[in-house]
Amino acid sequence: MDAIHVGILGFGTVGTGTAQILLENKDLILQRLGVPVCLAKVADRDLERKRNYPLPDGVFTTRVEDVLEDPSIHIVVELIGGLEPALSFIRRAIAGGKHVVTANKALLAHAGAQLFGEAAARGVEIGFEASVGGGIPIIRALKEGFAANQIQSIYSIINGTGNYILSRMTNEGRKFADVLKEAQEKGYAEKDPTLDVEGIDSAHKIAILASLAFGVTVPLESVYTEGITHIDPLDIQFAREFGFKIKLLAIAKNHGDQIEVRVHPTMLPSESPIAKVDGVFNAIQVEGDWVGKNMFIGRGAGALPTGSAVVGDIVDISRSLLKRACGRVSPLSTLPRYVRPARVKAMESISSEFYLRCSALDKPGVMAKISGVLGRHGISIASVIQKGRHEERAVPVVFVTHSAREQDVRDALGEIDRLEVVTEKTMLVRLESSV
Ligand code: NDP
Ligand code: HSE
Repeated sequence: MDAIHVGILGFGTVGTGTAQILLENKDLILQRLGVPVCLAKVADRDLERKRNYPLPDGVFTTRVEDVLEDPSIHIVVELIGGLEPALSFIRRAIAGGKHVVTANKALLAHAGAQLFGEAAARGVEIGFEASVGGGIPIIRALKEGFAANQIQSIYSIINGTGNYILSRMTNEGRKFADVLKEAQEKGYAEKDPTLDVEGIDSAHKIAILASLAFGVTVPLESVYTEGITHIDPLDIQFAREFGFKIKLLAIAKNHGDQIEVRVHPTMLPSESPIAKVDGVFNAIQVEGDWVGKNMFIGRGAGALPTGSAVVGDIVDISRSLLKRACGRVSPLSTLPRYVRPARVKAMESISSEFYLRCSALDKPGVMAKISGVLGRHGISIASVIQKGRHEERAVPVVFVTHSAREQDVRDALGEIDRLEVVTEKTMLVRLESSV
């Protein structure tokens, strides 16, 4: 084989970054492989879109068939996103004996097992480094670097858009909608940004990481998912007063025969390493039984960081092709015959600390009533603050609890929110003081 031929589907944000890196670093890639990687075709239906990077003549096409049906193309890079037609395109590529690289975490979270099975049966590889953590090589680290370890936990910020929004709201007092628009303009957000801000993109990614870490399949519906749209600037302010920051965390924990997988806004001590990761940066803390804690930090979205991960996969697959060693590492690291369906702990049975902000009328005995309900449900209070004094209007009363069971807290809030002195639904944010 004297060259590796690559075809890209989708010339948007990541497609442009990938093409730029392949073309501008072609000499470096040649030195690493011994043969050149040629960008043969780039297919996209959008003729109008302004791109920051010009392609050489004859490379751009509006027909995906020019990629999928070209027998000289070895690797198909899927960068159009979404479920269909991306799934059908990848299946066609695999059926045609082509290797695949994709950044499509939504598709992998929904249909990864099917695609990995089809690829193995056809003897081709699927690279998906860009699907989690943008430019951070976390997939390869879990598959290969940590292969000696039983992974115990993953605490992560894996949505660049969400982190960008929360950081700007926290550090600059900016408005949610304005900062989301900025993230969209920078190419960080998904085509449908509700995936980012409702925590769904993080759920897709933590399902992928948990599969790799624990050797299981994780049904998406078992991932508890809560986004950041209900975070009020008031809570960001209270968090600061308590010495915390709010981050959209994706957490996976190994409990032996069960696992925990969840995504939700979380208060963290401001001084914890993960809380200091701001803007589009992602942070992934992996704890293995022998290696202990490791922290990965890097740009979690954007054309070039993500393109870097895509090109890393192209180089990796090219090496396998050139050494005739395709399939050397199983897609989930664990061999398929040992991969089992995950038993995911119900959210109600999980324990953590909590931040609870009640809106209560400022009357004598109110604090005692609320704390009485918490006490009856076995929830112990670590600290409390009440802000302002107002005879007629409600004021915020904030409780930080010690570790409590989710179900007990929900039951207590059901009662608290029915108290006559409580005027609004209580705001709940989970808290992890030891991360
Ligand atoms: P973009 O929307 O910027 O690019 C996708 C391109 O594919 C668009 O030009 C789109 O055209 C085109 N396209 C869509 N459907 C078809 C089709 N049927 N045939 C041909 N072209 C098509 O998306 P991104 O580059 O941001 O994302 C691509 C993938 O990478 C997604 O899976 C995303 O989740 C993932 N990803 C994105 C990151 C980022 O930072 N942006 C980071 C990590 C992963 P049209 O505009 O007409 O739909
Ligand atoms: N929309 C995603 C994010 C892109 O903001 O993290 C990277 O996967």
